[in-house]
Amino acid sequence: MEKIKMILDCDTGHDDAIALMVASKHPDIELLGVTVVAGNAGLHHTLPNTLNVVQHLGLQVKVYGGMSRPMVRDQIVGKKIHGESGFDGPVFEELRIKAEEEHAVNFIIRTIMESDGDVVLVPVGPLTNIAMAIRLEPRIAEKIKLISLMGGAAGMGNTTPSAEFNIYADPEAAHVVFTSGAPVVMMGLDLTNRTIATEKVIERMEAIGNKAGKLFGDIMRFTLQSQKANGLDGGPVHDLTAVMYLVHPEFFRMKEAFVEIDLSKGPSYGRTVADINGRLGKEPNALVGLDTDLPVFWDEVERVLRLHN
Ligand code: RIB
Ligand code: CA
Repeated sequence: MEKIKMILDCDTGHDDAIALMVASKHPDIELLGVTVVAGNAGLHHTLPNTLNVVQHLGLQVKVYGGMSRPMVRDQIVGKKIHGESGFDGPVFEELRIKAEEEHAVNFIIRTIMESDGDVVLVPVGPLTNIAMAIRLEPRIAEKIKLISLMGGAAGMGNTTPSAEFNIYADPEAAHVVFTSGAPVVMMGLDLTNRTIATEKVIERMEAIGNKAGKLFGDIMRFTLQSQKANGLDGGPVHDLTAVMYLVHPEFFRMKEAFVEIDLSKGPSYGRTVADINGRLGKEPNALVGLDTDLPVFWDEVERVLRLHN
């Protein structure tokens, strides 16, 4: 089977790091690069946070710094859940590696334009980098094979009652992506809130006994506490679902839907209005994740974490 050519765009971030750990080692994925955006914390945190994971696990992948602010709205961060640094909990060695000089948006554009149309983008933070790339070089929209993103919700939000964090942090960017014409898979909270890394899951991954298993535990033990604020008994590995869908679509229940981003400056600002039941009769522009088969999901996570040194 041809490997999936992937660019992971992240705002590391606890669950971003788990997504990176799987994307970097899965035998069916060729990770072309990791681009970083402001989100859970400012870019001055999310970029070194990402580099720390790459260095700690000895990952052979280049990292590119991207947009440090949303396209239009004021900046918000996710410190309630992720702490001041956006990645509180795990402790890393002194950071020695650096990001590439090339800006993430330029890397995304160059990689897609030089490709045969087989590059998959996996944004798991605010969509600022992706939207800026589409605005700077509109031709990429028809060359992107797929955008498999973590964001949004057909139901309740987690940052406001209406909006999920990644979308709420840059709704205008999400509008650009969902109206670009590129095929979109939306792994929203309806699905991702089911992927809770409970104490039992954490102990299972720590028992692998390698650096990746220990790092999984160090990362997700922090969210055991911080997610209680969200009424959850642990941290969902939200971002990992956008990676896992690409290698195991059979793990998920999906539904085609017309999805529109609410940009009105009221209580629904940043909501992904997903017409799951086709009430509007509009052409679907996204495949929306609704549920997953958790036992096989965690089996695959453990299998891939075991592939790390
Ligand atoms: O709402 C969940 C999303 O917000 C995840 O991407 C998490 O990393 C945070 O960025
Ligand atoms: Ca994220």
